[in-house]
Amino acid sequence: QAYAPFDIIIFGATGDLTARKLLPALYYRYLDKQIPPQTRIIGTARSPLTDDDFKKRIHDGLVEFVQESYQDPENIRNFLNLISYVSLNGAEADSNWPELQAKFEHNKANDIRIFYFATAPRLYGDICDNLALKKLITPTTRIILEKPIGTSLKTAEEINQRVGKHFPENNIYRIDHYLGKETVQNVIALRFANPVFERLWNSDAIDYVQITAAETVGVGKRGGYYDGAGALRDMVQNHLLQVLCMVAMDPPISLNADDLRNEKLKVLRSLKPMTEQDIKNNTVRGQYTSCVYKNEKIPGYLEDLGKDQSNTETFITLKAEINTARWGGVPFYLRTGKRLAKKVSEIIIQFKPSAWNLFATPPKANRLVIRIQPDEGVSLSLQIKDPQKTYTNLRSTSINIEFPTAFHIRYPDSYEGLLMDVVKGDPILFIRRDEVEASWRWIEPILDGWAKNLTPLTYYKAGSWGPQEALDLLDRANHVWHENMTE
Ligand code: BG6
Repeated sequence: QAYAPFDIIIFGATGDLTARKLLPALYYRYLDKQIPPQTRIIGTARSPLTDDDFKKRIHDGLVEFVQESYQDPENIRNFLNLISYVSLNGAEADSNWPELQAKFEHNKANDIRIFYFATAPRLYGDICDNLALKKLITPTTRIILEKPIGTSLKTAEEINQRVGKHFPENNIYRIDHYLGKETVQNVIALRFANPVFERLWNSDAIDYVQITAAETVGVGKRGGYYDGAGALRDMVQNHLLQVLCMVAMDPPISLNADDLRNEKLKVLRSLKPMTEQDIKNNTVRGQYTSCVYKNEKIPGYLEDLGKDQSNTETFITLKAEINTARWGGVPFYLRTGKRLAKKVSEIIIQFKPSAWNLFATPPKANRLVIRIQPDEGVSLSLQIKDPQKTYTNLRSTSINIEFPTAFHIRYPDSYEGLLMDVVKGDPILFIRRDEVEASWRWIEPILDGWAKNLTPLTYYKAGSWGPQEALDLLDRANHVWHENMTE
C-alpha cells in the first residue's frame, strides 16, 4: 500500500527507542515502498548534534537492529537522506524553535505531520504547550505518546488533560507496542472468525487464563527510569492489561476504532477491584538476585542499578478477576519479569477437564497456547488414542502452527504497522484516554497496598521462573504455569 508523504518529528530522538525501534521500523517500511521519498524524519533532542552526527547514530542502529539480509547499502543511504536533526529542548519555550519552524514554512495546511513523544512523560504537557505557542499544530497534526502515561491515575489524568487542550482525542495516538504484535492482533481473528473457539470462550468451558511476558534481559541502562517505575507500572498497567482486554472483550459491533475500544474499556471497568486481602493473597512481587550461569556471573538487580538497596519489583504475578457474566470465577494470571529463564510472551487458555471419563486414565484438559513471541503461532493440545496401546489408552499431542513458517514471510516488528497506522489516521490499535485512566484506576490500589507492604518483596535467582511464591499462588488453586505442565 502506498502512503502520502509525511513529516515525523521525534522528541527525545537520541534515546534508545529511536535507534532500536522507530528508525528500523520506518526503514523496513521504506524497503516496502510505503514511505515516499518526499517524507521527512526530523530528530530533536537537547544534544548539540549535526545532521551527520545524528545520521551516523541512526546508521549504526540500522546495522545493529535490522536483519542482515535487509541491509542494502544503497537503500540505507537513500533512507538516511530523509533524516535531519534539530537540537531543541521541546519543554522550553525559548529553545531553538525557529530552526524547527523554518522546516515547515512551505508546508500546506493539510500535510500529514506527526510528532512522536519519546521523552519522559512528565514533559508531554510542556511540549504540547510549546507546539501550540510556536504555531506548529495544524488541524491534521497527530501526536504519538509513548507509555507510560503517568505514574498514577492523577498524573495520567493531568497529562491527558494538558495534551487534550491542544489536540482532539482522535489525533492523539497513545502507543502500546504490544498491540502492534501480530499475534496479539490475531486474537481478534482467532476468536471472532472461528466459532469453534468463540462458543467456548467463557467460564463454562475455560478453567483459567495465563498471560506471561517474560524477559531474559535485566534492566540494563534503564535503571534510572525503571527503579522509579517497577514491573507493575512498566508492563502490567499497559501491555498485559491490553492483552487481557483482547482475550476477554466481547465481540465489538464493528472493527471501527471506537467500537473495539469500547469493548476493551468494558473489560477494564469490570476488573474486580483488589481488596487488601486480595493484594496479600493474590499478588507476588520479586526482585532478581545474582547467580552463576554457565560459569558466568549474572549480576543482580542492585548491581545492575549500582545501589545498595531498592524496594522495586522486577517480577510480578497477580491473579485478576473479571466481574462479568462471561468471566465470573475464571482467574486471569498475569506474570512478567526481567532476567527470567526464557524470553517468551504467551497467552494460555486452559480449558476445563471433562466431567466424565471412558478411558483407562482421565483425559487431560485441552489447552490453547497463543505465542506472541518468539515463534509467533498457535497450538492446541489434544488427546488422541495412544498408537502403541489399546483403545482405552490416550496420549497427548498438539496441533501447532508457526506463522512465519506457515506463511513464509518476515514477521514485522510491532512498531512498523503502528507507525503506518498513524500515517493512515487509524487509531484502532492505540489506547484511548478513558482506557488509560481505567487501567490506572485498577492498578492504583495495588500500588497503595504495596506501599503499606501488604506484599513484601521476595527474591529470585536470575535465570529462574521467579520466586517460589508465584508457583504457590497457582498451586493453591490446583493450577499450573504453562512451562511446568506436562502434555
Ligand atoms: C517496554 C518496557 O514497554 O517493553 C521494557 O518498558 C520491556 O521494560 C519491553 O523490556 C518489552 O517489550 P518486548 O516487545 O521485548 O516484549
